[in-house]
Amino acid sequence: MKFFLDTADIDEISEAASWGALAGVTTNPTLYARVGGKLADFNDHIKRICDIVGPDCPVSAESLAMTRDDLVRDGRELAAIAPNVVVKIPTMVEGLAATRTLADEGIRVNMTLCFTVPQALLAARAGARYISPFVGRFDDISEDGIEQVANIVDAVGNYDFSQNTANGEQVEVIAASIRSANHVTQCALMGADIATVPFGVLKKMVGHPLTDRGIEAFVADWEKVK
Ligand code: E4P
Repeated sequence: MKFFLDTADIDEISEAASWGALAGVTTNPTLYARVGGKLADFNDHIKRICDIVGPDCPVSAESLAMTRDDLVRDGRELAAIAPNVVVKIPTMVEGLAATRTLADEGIRVNMTLCFTVPQALLAARAGARYISPFVGRFDDISEDGIEQVANIVDAVGNYDFSQNTANGEQVEVIAASIRSANHVTQCALMGADIATVPFGVLKKMVGHPLTDRGIEAFVADWEKVK
């Protein structure tokens, strides 16, 4: 499983990138608003993130346009920021149509706000490089977000969509809206390709009380042998 950071916060991204295990970043309008971002600075902000994480880490930047023509226009503009930009587009009819056009131009799309197997299969068929089912938000409405991601991983894995995506790459499922380290465990066990996690969850993934206690004991015993 690869780990993406789900944030637009430059400090969090710089810190997580320095840990050596970061494979990408996902942003959305809410996350950008949370760091005080302004529309006029959005492309520069995405460029900064791309520069921090490097060319091998995909960085998702979302378009909230509502027509296929506007989504395609935004997608081309976002993709021109850096080669590792992935255009994030909501799952909807206009989004599918725009995804087809962008994928045919070699532009990678992350189809977001995906909640069902049919949505995921349509996204893959339309050429999405990444599909983002949301765990937490599904749980929020008393549905089983983990089960839904598992179903999407299984269904997408049943087929070869590489002829549909930009540059013939395999589709990858990003487990999104992750709220806990336990969500990560469950998504990894079911075979999700990627988990995109908030920085708070990433920090919790590193630690365990027994690890901390073990380090303390080893350090204390090492003092004795000095
Ligand atoms: C990532 O692609 C999503 O936009 C994000 O994970 C949504 O998370 P939330 O449901 O916690 O807002």
